[in-house]
Amino acid sequence: MRYVLGIETSCDDSGAAIAAVAGSGDVSLVSEVVSSQTSMHELYGGVVPELAAREHLRNLPVIVAECLRRGNVTSADLDAVGVTRGPGLKGCLLIGLNFAKAFAVARGLPLVAVNHIEGHIFSVQLDHPDLQPPFLALVVSGGHTEIHLVHRFGEYQLIARTIDDAAGEAFDKSANLLGFNYPGGAALADLADSVESSDFNLPRVMRKAEGFSFSGLKTAIAVLIREQAACLRDEQMRAKIAYAIQDSIVDALLYKLKQAVAKTGIRKVAVAGGVSANKFLRRKLASWRQVDSYFPELRHCVDNGANTAYLAACRLSREEFSPLNVAALSRWPVESISCE
Ligand code: KG4
Ligand code: ZN
Repeated sequence: MRYVLGIETSCDDSGAAIAAVAGSGDVSLVSEVVSSQTSMHELYGGVVPELAAREHLRNLPVIVAECLRRGNVTSADLDAVGVTRGPGLKGCLLIGLNFAKAFAVARGLPLVAVNHIEGHIFSVQLDHPDLQPPFLALVVSGGHTEIHLVHRFGEYQLIARTIDDAAGEAFDKSANLLGFNYPGGAALADLADSVESSDFNLPRVMRKAEGFSFSGLKTAIAVLIREQAACLRDEQMRAKIAYAIQDSIVDALLYKLKQAVAKTGIRKVAVAGGVSANKFLRRKLASWRQVDSYFPELRHCVDNGANTAYLAACRLSREEFSPLNVAALSRWPVESISCE
């Protein structure tokens, strides 16, 4: 067995995990720890990058030690250190990357720099080892909404990407208008799931455009909520508004996914990122008989160290390492990896 420690600090959750690579190349998860910062950022209505970075610095030594303890692994057993290099918040990435570099240098271990989106994409394979390329990957998180054709590990073709907000942002901003605390996406979804239908109608967004766009929908949601302000006191009506919002966001995702399936002829779809935890999206995709859909386990949808450790383990088994002077990249389109 070879062991890799994965460290994730791209946004507001500090994650550490250990993955093991068997002689056969099979990767399994040994242990994982996530420290959520949500309660701190909730006070400010969104992630405060500087505070998130400081919190990562405090959290990392603790969660890495806990991860080793839970996995019954010592640092001497490790064979590599994987770390999210980007995309993400620069200050947060710098903390994780420098922690990983110092850890690697001190123990004479190679470094594996991981693309966070690639980590999300392969989180699906982590939980479904039978998922093999080629497949379509829909990454839907608080910062990203994109569809890629995964030709093989390391080779990605962009099919569609958002030109403004991400799906998670659309959920969170709508949730805020409905009175939920940040991030609010999951709470809005829970409220929406408490009813079966809605009489409120929201526009079906950007059907003709190439990429995703949620800004028009965001405006329509704001107008609807303003017009129905009196209804918000009625929990049933509030739930019906939430239903309409969830329905229109999910519809936008499915519409582009259907276009991608038609364009590529690929009928295997992996969905990853925080919004892939959405039950309504999962149900809608499951009822679409023409495709096989795959979702990560709920804890692997949102940011975590397991995705990073898994991806780093896949690279370790290919002997693909990174130089110790790699820089953090706040922007790092996953399709550019194919050209590196
Ligand atoms: O992947 P993630 O943890 O962080 C980023 O890389 O952005 O995704 C967080 C996003 C937030 O916008 C959150 O509201 C959304 O995922 N989210 C959900 C659900 N659970 C998390 N959105 C809709 N329904 C959910 N059940
Ligand atoms: Zn993420």
